[in-house]
Amino acid sequence: MNMKLLVVGAGTMGTGITQVAAEQGIEVVLYDFKPEQLAKTKKTINNFLQKKVDKGKLSSQEKEVVLKRIQLVEDLGDRVRQCDFVIEAIFENYEAKVQLFKQLDKVCNPEAILISNTSTLSISKMAEALQDPSRFMGMHFFSPVPVMRLVEVVRGEKTSAVTMEKGLKLVEALGKTGVVVKDIPGFLVNRINCLMYNEAARLVQAEVATAENVDKAMKLGMNHPMGPLEMIDMAGIDVALSALDALYEMTGNEAYKPAEILREMVNSGKCGRKSTVGFYNYKNQ
Ligand SMILES: NC(=O)c1ccc[n+]([C@@H]2O[C@H](COP(=O)([O-])OP(=O)(O)OC[C@H]3O[C@@H](n4cnc5c(N)ncnc54)[C@H](O)[C@@H]3O)[C@@H](O)[C@H]2O)c1
Repeated sequence: MNMKLLVVGAGTMGTGITQVAAEQGIEVVLYDFKPEQLAKTKKTINNFLQKKVDKGKLSSQEKEVVLKRIQLVEDLGDRVRQCDFVIEAIFENYEAKVQLFKQLDKVCNPEAILISNTSTLSISKMAEALQDPSRFMGMHFFSPVPVMRLVEVVRGEKTSAVTMEKGLKLVEALGKTGVVVKDIPGFLVNRINCLMYNEAARLVQAEVATAENVDKAMKLGMNHPMGPLEMIDMAGIDVALSALDALYEMTGNEAYKPAEILREMVNSGKCGRKSTVGFYNYKNQ
């Protein structure tokens, strides 16, 4: 499929989406207002592809072809007009995202599809900022993007059928599987996963079982590849806490009210792997 993609935000998600798109033969422009982030992205993608070369999964020539499909830019300029799709992957902040989309709305090709990779914000609400909300949709990718196969394809109240169709084609072109979901807080996966994280934390808090035993039980009893507390440590306790806070606020459902232990851990700097302590200790790893 001949398409041109603009990705905004060269963080964890933007970098992953850019890499996957380029590997799938899609021309990508990646924009971030922080040059150091772009430099980091360049290194990350290069290292990832080099590992594939070292393993014999990619030739050096193919690696160069993939890299040539990626343009890293510090300002948007005129390039935006040529893009068929824009995927926004900036900070999870409503005001920042709306401001960006208002800007994109003015400069993008009117046929272009505007997409947010938000985890928690309402697609329908964000769409209100656009002149044409029918061309706006959500695409919730999972981290690490090159590895995870699913994309939640979010239909906002005013997303048109054509936009959904084009969006699903993009997901397919990216080599991912799209699952269409309505625009509800937490979409589908986080809606379910956050409950599991929260309940697992509550069980540890109530000393029903140790973290090790909660994880062991879910791995051996449910065939989960990782336990919920190992997962929460990997995602970041702070990230899980803010997701739960947001879901609780948006749904009013007590099941999402964060377990006290999560807030206590974040307040004492125990944010999981990245801080070397979470439900487990990673100091010697
Ligand atoms: N990290 C995850 O596991 C994950 C999974 C699914 C969805 N998401 C969502 O994806 C989005 C990005 O998350 P992330 O973890 O990659 O964030 P991140 O903090 O790693 O990266 C965000 C990047 O956006 C850039 N940025 C911020 N505002 C900008 C602007 N106005 N213009 C240009 N660049 C700007 C920052 O410089 C930074 O490089 C968030 O909405 C998040 O909720 C994250």
